[in-house]
Amino acid sequence: MQEKFYLTTAIDYVNGAPHIGHAYEKILSDVIIRHKRQLTDKAFMLTGTDEHGIKIQKTAASFGITPKELCDQNFNQFNSAWKELEISYDKIIRTTDEQHKKTVKQIFKKLLENGDIYKHKYTGLYCSGCESFLNPKDLTPDGLCPNHLKKPEEITEENYFFRLSKYKDKLAQYIKSHPDFIIPSFRVNEILNQLENIEDISVSRTKASVRWAIEVPEDEEQSIYVWIDALSNYITAIGYDIENPSEQFKELWPANVHVIGKDIIKFHSIYWTAILMSLGLPLPEHIFAHGWITIDQSKMSKSLGNVIAPHDVLQGFNLEHPDAFRYYMASAALIGRDGNYSDEDFKEKVNADLANNIGNLLNRTLNMLVKYFNGEIKPESITSKDCKIAIMAENTKQQIIEAFNKYEIAEAANLIVSFSDSVNKYVTENAPWTLAKEGKMHECAQVLYNILEAMRHIAIMLSPYCPNIAADILVQLNEKQDFSYSNLYWGGIKSGQITQKDKIKPVFLRLDSEFATGKKKG
Ligand code: MSP
Repeated sequence: MQEKFYLTTAIDYVNGAPHIGHAYEKILSDVIIRHKRQLTDKAFMLTGTDEHGIKIQKTAASFGITPKELCDQNFNQFNSAWKELEISYDKIIRTTDEQHKKTVKQIFKKLLENGDIYKHKYTGLYCSGCESFLNPKDLTPDGLCPNHLKKPEEITEENYFFRLSKYKDKLAQYIKSHPDFIIPSFRVNEILNQLENIEDISVSRTKASVRWAIEVPEDEEQSIYVWIDALSNYITAIGYDIENPSEQFKELWPANVHVIGKDIIKFHSIYWTAILMSLGLPLPEHIFAHGWITIDQSKMSKSLGNVIAPHDVLQGFNLEHPDAFRYYMASAALIGRDGNYSDEDFKEKVNADLANNIGNLLNRTLNMLVKYFNGEIKPESITSKDCKIAIMAENTKQQIIEAFNKYEIAEAANLIVSFSDSVNKYVTENAPWTLAKEGKMHECAQVLYNILEAMRHIAIMLSPYCPNIAADILVQLNEKQDFSYSNLYWGGIKSGQITQKDKIKPVFLRLDSEFATGKKKG
């Protein structure tokens, strides 16, 4: 039986437009889900937008529009960015969806009934950037929020609190006994340290301070804390209901992975897991925290004026599809580390890997096939699966599956490129043009067959990153558009006419050095 795979992304705040940091996470997630779909047809990807809270309320007010109008506008921007980047989500949830709001109230009520939520008067330091009270121990030496570098506001309110302290030991125990629950593992200690200081958390605000939120059931004065609202999306989106959960929920939950940024691990690995424990639901298999994307080595920020939208890159480089950008972003950082975007680096990387390494290999080989064999594969040129290139192809496939199981997405891309490097070396070592010149046509045909069969493997392995380029490679090889891993076996290309001179074209054109994001250089 095929195993299901349920992946979620963080849901983005809609108080602004999407930038390439948001895009990074959605691309990583999309590459993972496309890879899983190569192995199972039960892979499901959820993404969405986080639409409540004080930030959205304030931004809407500053534009003189209602919060819902702001949410609608920005939701459309996020959604069209994901369409442009060909993010193949199965569902996109908005936290203003009626079904979501109804279930969040149900969840809050259940936590109250369980005795895990209680009312309490409290004075604390609130950061509106984090939408969260901060622990004084976590502030910078100047008393600022470490994420937003802003002074938190001192607030006294009577709020509802969640008994997080009750779950402290159970959570620590769980994290210690599941060493791959938090990925990458270098984040685990950070979370265990935070757990040591954990206290009960406020899970509501007064309506007077936050109007744009889901109401606490049976208490009109209070609004539900945005993080309870936001985190619950992972179950409400697939039909969770306390009395009557949907079939989809029963099939998909627990999630296999929550893909999130490193800044929000605490909310996922501590708050969310405790809420799930209180609801009596199983915990997600992995929480995968990626690093952050900087621009030319600086943090992206409105004040620095260096915020780049994914559309700017596609337009600035005149790209006809998002593959190059997807490939670059997905390879931007080794697992969990920060990555950087720069126009120069982007151009260099995609020209080297997609145009020179992979693209040229296909182009040269097809041209030789036309020149020496009229574009035809003869039955006797089909080689056995124990030739050197076939063995390498099989090893690469296995290593890629392992890399994806560990969420090493950039590392898996590197494996494809290094396989392509080896095939390029094989071309040089075996010089099919010399074989043809010497009249060794049988050997020449076999070498070309090996390269083309390797190209077919590369197309399938590359398809989660570059779906359009991969499709084009298969078109040029006259192969069916089926990217399933069950097609990764040696000998897939059969004998017969596979190409003609006029059908051969580069699958990826080198990027024009004149173009840079949104502007022409110099
Ligand atoms: N709404 C919350 C998440 C709730 S999940 C239940 C939130 N929203 S966000 O819009 O600020 O961020 C959404 C995601 O984008 C987060 O995972 C965050 O880490 C990620 N990124 C935001 N800026 C980023 C970069 N510059 N680089 C990489 N990822 C970044 O947090």
